[in-house]
Amino acid sequence: MTDKQTLTIRDNRSGEEYEVEITDGSIRAADLGKIGKSDDDPGLSVYDPGFTNTASTRSAVTYIDGEKGILEYRGYPIEQLAESSTYLEVAYLLIHGELPTKEQHDQWVHEITFHTFVHENLKSQLQGFRYDAHPMGMLLSSVGALSTFYPEANKIKDPQVRHDQIVRMIAKMPTLGAWAFRHAQGKPYVYPDNDLSYTENFLSMLFRMSEPKYDPDPRLAKALEVLFILHADHEQNASTNAVRSVGSSQVDPYSAVTAGIAALYGPLHGGANEAVLKMLKRIKTKDNVPAFIEGVKNGEERLMGFGHRVYKNYDPRATIIKKACDDVFEVTGVNPLLEVAQELEKIALEDEYFVKRKLYPNVDFYSGLIYEALQFPPEMFTVLFAIPRTSGWLAQWLELVDDPEQKIARPKQIYTGARQLDFVPSSERWK
Ligand code: ACO
Repeated sequence: MTDKQTLTIRDNRSGEEYEVEITDGSIRAADLGKIGKSDDDPGLSVYDPGFTNTASTRSAVTYIDGEKGILEYRGYPIEQLAESSTYLEVAYLLIHGELPTKEQHDQWVHEITFHTFVHENLKSQLQGFRYDAHPMGMLLSSVGALSTFYPEANKIKDPQVRHDQIVRMIAKMPTLGAWAFRHAQGKPYVYPDNDLSYTENFLSMLFRMSEPKYDPDPRLAKALEVLFILHADHEQNASTNAVRSVGSSQVDPYSAVTAGIAALYGPLHGGANEAVLKMLKRIKTKDNVPAFIEGVKNGEERLMGFGHRVYKNYDPRATIIKKACDDVFEVTGVNPLLEVAQELEKIALEDEYFVKRKLYPNVDFYSGLIYEALQFPPEMFTVLFAIPRTSGWLAQWLELVDDPEQKIARPKQIYTGARQLDFVPSSERWK
């Protein structure tokens, strides 16, 4: 062993050796570009579809140790935040990097609370959607439209302008999400109630009918608070990468966050909890679990809500959600599918197939059960993910905008197509 933090690479094509620096366990892809570089060779590059082993940024927002099952926001363990904080305090932490003083907290909550209303023209836009429009489609188009209401948002180097848009987006997201939900039900949109907390107000906009004031159950508001905290950030996932990639063109933050919502919309990202629910409904009873597990082991299908690209241990968020289930079911009555989920978990955690592959429950295994108990249709599940993830996207966007090392995202390609063909005009080709 030596203290030398370099890597020696021998190019067997030429016999030449190159020494490249190792910093934080990484080498710079640009250093590889020097290997074999000549007038007619652009040098070596890295081929990494899906960025499975490529760091795109330095970040101080979220830390994950997948082997140990650790998740921290700005250094604070997710378990402690979920237990003792609120979503808005966590949003402050993610955006500002530090926990707020009392004064900063009160000012932050005040600002967010008083930006919950959206322009009436945006309401008209939402009302223009078809009765069966997917709420994620409605959310992403309305967040994109917000940039037209705040044209100054493109001054992304101005700290006050940035702050204003961050407050607006975190404040208006529940309003837009709740209105998309009401739209599908043909119910009138409910305006924000600024006497209520962030999650209480969201519940009010979702469920209030003719009562003059909605009285949310504090246990449900608290469970939602916990779910929001758990979903606030998860470092460089597909949607965050989309926000950063689009944001790298220096577009306004509404447009960048819209890209994140679009990425989250996909079933490989935000849609897994819906798949878990469908699977549980299909299994139906505890007795059918062993046969289902056998099918999974025979490669017939996957146990949805199990396994994770990063976590090779219990997803810490799954442990917390499991606890939140109890609180929600105390109010709504137990979801009969809980028994099926618990049996699946019990058998899978003891089974050699799952143990050997380090497959543990992920965040989606239990969240769908809670959402269903709260009477959300499956299409709303991803909206419930997008609302709290907004603070994480914005924290990552801020980091990007201030990072002098960042450039417009522009990956390389390995060209595999034809070259230098002679164009034959259609008049000759179509003879
Ligand atoms: N059920 C059964 N087997 C599984 C599962 C599963 N859920 N997940 C992985 N495996 C097996 C694979 O078949 C493979 O086995 P093999 O080595 O015998 O071929 C091995 O475990 C490794 O699987 P990969 O697909 O290579 O792992 P990867 O890291 O690419 O996939 C993923 C991670 C996509 C999450 C996967 O575990 C999966 O499909 N899980 C179910 C879907 C799910 O719950 N997604 C939500 C993720 S959390 C989130 O996005 C918020």
